[in-house]
Amino acid sequence: MSLRVAVLTHEDLIPPETLKGHSEQEIEAWATEWDVMRALRELKHEARFLGISDDLRPIRQLVEEWQPHVVFNLLMEFRDVGAFQVHVASYLELLGVPSTGCNSRGILLARDKAVSKQILRYHHIPTPNFRVFSPGGRIRAPKRLGFPLIVKSVDEEASLGIAQASVVRSEEQLQERVKFIHEKVGSDALAEQYVDGRELTISVLGNTRLETFPVWEMEFRNLPEGTIPIATDRAKHDLAYQKKVGIHTGPARDLPEGAAERIASVARRIYRALGLCGYARIDLRLAPDGRAWVLEANATPDVQRDEDLARSAKTAGVAYPDLIQRILDLGMRYRPQWKRA
Ligand SMILES: Nc1ncnc2c1ncn2[C@@H]1O[C@H](COP(=O)(O)OP(=O)(O)O)[C@@H](O)[C@H]1O
Ligand SMILES: [Mg+2]
Repeated sequence: MSLRVAVLTHEDLIPPETLKGHSEQEIEAWATEWDVMRALRELKHEARFLGISDDLRPIRQLVEEWQPHVVFNLLMEFRDVGAFQVHVASYLELLGVPSTGCNSRGILLARDKAVSKQILRYHHIPTPNFRVFSPGGRIRAPKRLGFPLIVKSVDEEASLGIAQASVVRSEEQLQERVKFIHEKVGSDALAEQYVDGRELTISVLGNTRLETFPVWEMEFRNLPEGTIPIATDRAKHDLAYQKKVGIHTGPARDLPEGAAERIASVARRIYRALGLCGYARIDLRLAPDGRAWVLEANATPDVQRDEDLARSAKTAGVAYPDLIQRILDLGMRYRPQWKRA
């Protein structure tokens, strides 16, 4: 059946009709929107882009006038604030329109790394020990946390604020980096035990019945001596740097016996513990002793064709348009609280 799909995104990310005349950098900015648009066309759905930045009225207007079957939600922020992303998902729920991706409660819980780690701990899912530092408070590592620690924003994504200097080995370095997060990123800082090991992620699809895709790995094949193998902002986004230091992402090979199954099972438990739906991606580090430590759950991972979720789905035999169709179906089938009300 051909669906009316409203694709919700930032107003600056509405893709043009053709790639011609656009630089690689420009294309990168709206590559996800472009890929989704192409897939929707291939699936013969009717797509309309809905671009917003700081006004919700266009959403209501389009939903009322055009009555889309589903909103494809690609919006990552509201009024340039990432933490407001969740409120737009809530607004869609209040409007009563089905939407793709995670429900607002799941986004809220997963996006707050401290809260989600507390929930994981309750479920005995291994996640590194941590401490949150708010601006104005004393910055000291509690005794139970030994160095090295890694300092990150409690609620930012995409490695924003993560660099080599994020891994700290003394009180002084800790204080410096915590202040950096407060001042430059503008959020509370989370310091957690640094886990040496392989950088893994696993994608999950589903509402009640969950499917996991093959464990995915980021490898650092050519890092200069002394560089710490972590997914910094640069490692994730700077193509030239990725080439230089040999960053490769792909299926994790030669995992220890049983590790892939254990990781898949932990990913499903996390998905349920946080009440996620639609699709998500769980980041982990696999320590040399074979223990998998969960770093975070991404309730709104990138669905770009070239990114981990779609690539790992493809490895499992789910072609990109099929993945997009499955995401639409899950969005339409999800029964949020308002359906019961
Ligand atoms: N406890 C940790 N031990 C080792 N590396 C970590 C740890 N926490 C984060 N990292 C590194 O920083 C990257 C980004 O951290 P993550 O918690 O996934 O936040 P983001 O939301 O920015 O992706 C991870 O992919 C990993 O390389
Ligand atoms: Mg991550």
